[in-house]
Amino acid sequence: MVQIKVEQATIDQNQTPLLVVGVYENENEFSHSKGLDPILYYTIKEIISNKEFKAVVGARLIIPTMDKGPMKKIMLMGLGKKEKFNNEIARIVSAKAAIKAREMEISEFSILPFSNLDEGLIEAISEGIALSLYSFNRYKTNDKGEKSKVKQVTILINADKNKIQPIIDRTALLVEAVNLARDLSNLPPNDCSPSQLASIAVSVGTEYGLKTRIVERYEMESMGLNGIVSVGKGSQNPPKLIILEYHGSTGDRRPYLLVGKGVTFDTGGISLKDSDKMDEMKFDKCGGCNVVAIMKAVASLKLPINVVGIIPSVENMPSSTSYRPGDIIKMYNGKTVEVLNTDAEGRLILADALAFGIASYNPKAVIDLATLTGACIIALGTNVAAVIGTNKKFIDELHKVSDRTSEKIWELPLYEEFNEQIKSSIADIKNIGGRPGGAITAAAFLSNFTNDIPWIHIDIAGTAWTQEGTYERSYNPKGATGFGVRTIVKLLMEDNMFS
Ligand code: BES
Ligand code: MN
Ligand code: ZN
Repeated sequence: MVQIKVEQATIDQNQTPLLVVGVYENENEFSHSKGLDPILYYTIKEIISNKEFKAVVGARLIIPTMDKGPMKKIMLMGLGKKEKFNNEIARIVSAKAAIKAREMEISEFSILPFSNLDEGLIEAISEGIALSLYSFNRYKTNDKGEKSKVKQVTILINADKNKIQPIIDRTALLVEAVNLARDLSNLPPNDCSPSQLASIAVSVGTEYGLKTRIVERYEMESMGLNGIVSVGKGSQNPPKLIILEYHGSTGDRRPYLLVGKGVTFDTGGISLKDSDKMDEMKFDKCGGCNVVAIMKAVASLKLPINVVGIIPSVENMPSSTSYRPGDIIKMYNGKTVEVLNTDAEGRLILADALAFGIASYNPKAVIDLATLTGACIIALGTNVAAVIGTNKKFIDELHKVSDRTSEKIWELPLYEEFNEQIKSSIADIKNIGGRPGGAITAAAFLSNFTNDIPWIHIDIAGTAWTQEGTYERSYNPKGATGFGVRTIVKLLMEDNMFS
């Protein structure tokens, strides 16, 4: 990954092939006169005050300096209106600068912070740079993009760098986790069966000192994890239950439980999906991959908490051994579920993982992450994840963190009425609730398996990968986004909600 460092230096002291300087749309002055060659300074000032460069967000102008300074080129980067500037804009423009530098085949550049230096701004700049330079190229046999790699970025500051560098180093660990989530999620389904996902999770876990456990199918059968076993029945690739434990708290404190949907490919099963965009159902494991990544982040950041990550992983396939519409499954917690559509598989595997995790670990709070419903995309589109839960304070706290990370979420209501839609005439509940409120009835289903533990369900169907309508692609290159990793890790860093 790209190295980001800070230097306490002025622009005339910094030798670099490219210096990135932000310009506000409604600012007629060029504020970086100090140390700049007068000809350069007046040229830039002229360009800005003549409105030859309109500094809308992300606009760029590259000016060669003709050896009139220690920088070979200056990139003016539009920041939009000063009063509208925020950390998300910093993230976006930093990403755009990094992408342009890569196009220019520059291996290092320097950047001036766009506004008053604070922790959030430094984080946003580092995130924008390191997230945007991600690419999934392991299946390209000759074009690995090696020659155009940005290897180092220097943030020039006018403050003590020993205060700032730790923030950057911490952010680098977080971004590394996001990029791991993307790397795993982007794997094609022929290279990522449940057992392959499990062995990757174990090797990540082992590398970071996590306790790891894989529950095999025969064990799941005897434990009564029949939701997971049933969905996995149609595939030659057996289901796996992946468990990662992080112990960072010295006391014997109750853990957070994270559950991620790990369907390595979702054909719909006997209720087969149509072929349009079915390839995208390799992303049905994103929730699980993001949980693996969060566990890595939590461990590498050495957070003083305990966290358990559980990923039920299956391949949902049609075959003579598949589970069927009409089947009734006795779930891990004893409730019976009538299967009316084998494509509503995610809730079945999550339900067992939630009930098992809660019974085994007595967590203080639970979050599940899942590409659970197409209805979530109908409700909120492809830029906002749906959040549904049972604890208002917990959701409010998540909202606050997501405002900082700009991983946008919106709460949908879990009113009692929705339970009516999933009542079964012959079993306790059924696995579909009809089209109305489909994202909510899926969550209502899950709420049958979470007891009274504070619980948040995050439906990332629209946001887990870049798809039609995805707006912010500057720091989200094509493919999996790792949505939720930054927000959940930051929420866990606070650890101020439950005792
Ligand atoms: N993995 C899908 C949901 C999905 C679809 C996510 C498209 C992202 C994009 C899930 O397993 C599913 O198939 N859900 C069904 C549920 C329905 C049968 C009640 C759906 O949303 O159509
Ligand atoms: Mn499905
Ligand atoms: Zn699915």
